[in-house]
Amino acid sequence: MSGFAGKAALVTGAGRGIGRAIACGLARLDADVAVLDLDQAAAEQTAAAIRESGGNAIGVHVDVADEQSVAIAVAAVAKAFERLDVAVNNAGIPSTGEDLAEMSAQSWEHVLRVNLTGTFLSLKHEIPELLRAGGGAIVNIASNGGLRAIPQAPAYVASKHGVVGLTKVAAVDYARRGIRVNAVAPAITRTAMFDRVAGDTDMAARQEAITPLGRLATPEEVAAVAIWLCSADASYITGTTVSVDGGRQA
Ligand SMILES: NC(=O)c1ccc[n+]([C@@H]2O[C@H](COP(=O)([O-])OP(=O)(O)OC[C@H]3O[C@@H](n4cnc5c(N)ncnc54)[C@H](O)[C@@H]3O)[C@@H](O)[C@H]2O)c1
Repeated sequence: MSGFAGKAALVTGAGRGIGRAIACGLARLDADVAVLDLDQAAAEQTAAAIRESGGNAIGVHVDVADEQSVAIAVAAVAKAFERLDVAVNNAGIPSTGEDLAEMSAQSWEHVLRVNLTGTFLSLKHEIPELLRAGGGAIVNIASNGGLRAIPQAPAYVASKHGVVGLTKVAAVDYARRGIRVNAVAPAITRTAMFDRVAGDTDMAARQEAITPLGRLATPEEVAAVAIWLCSADASYITGTTVSVDGGRQA
């Protein structure tokens, strides 16, 4: 894969899980990486792990649901690396597992705020920096729930369908200005988010049974696709959502 030497990247929600795998993968391909997370200690830990492996990384606090916080974080990254070429908007929260008619408006708004408005705010503040750098690539992490229903996940599914739509608009609006925007739609991936949702249930075994490849994804398998979409190898791809689902959509 083409590398990212001389390029600066940021990844939101990179303190753990899929975001951490993306940040580490970008650093292995020589990008300077800003690790953004609500959990500042986790962000610092990912950045330290990258530096210990010989990469260049900084940890930055961000709450993607808060515009001022996003503006400050993106400006800090652009100042530290003197440019921004790549952004992966991965921060997100899971479904609350409620029936639609039982869901409070507050719970609905919180999921939409982090997953959808958070992606909008990230794009809004990243795009001017990418334009200043002469163009670049953005990947939004959606979900298979952005392409189909997941039972008892109305806000999550609506938010991720929104991310897929927002990706298309951003791609079309900025294509002529040198920015590609794509999305990745993972099915269930073994991360802390999955462990929280699954709890003590047999959800992992049930999900494996209905996945053609017969197992759940690793964060690295999702990261590999996001990183490839950010690379020069994906130079003619924009506005697309790539499903990483072990055959589930089929
Ligand atoms: N794990 C899965 O099965 C799965 C499947 C499909 C899609 N996804 C999506 O992938 C992305 C990453 O999921 P994951 O499984 O790695 O989750 P995770 O819970 O393991 O990690 C998410 C990270 O995002 C951070 N975060 C949460 N809210 C934030 C906010 N407001 N601002 C900044 N950072 C915030 C958390 O602190 C955490 O470090 C999410 O968008 C999720 O919806 C995950």
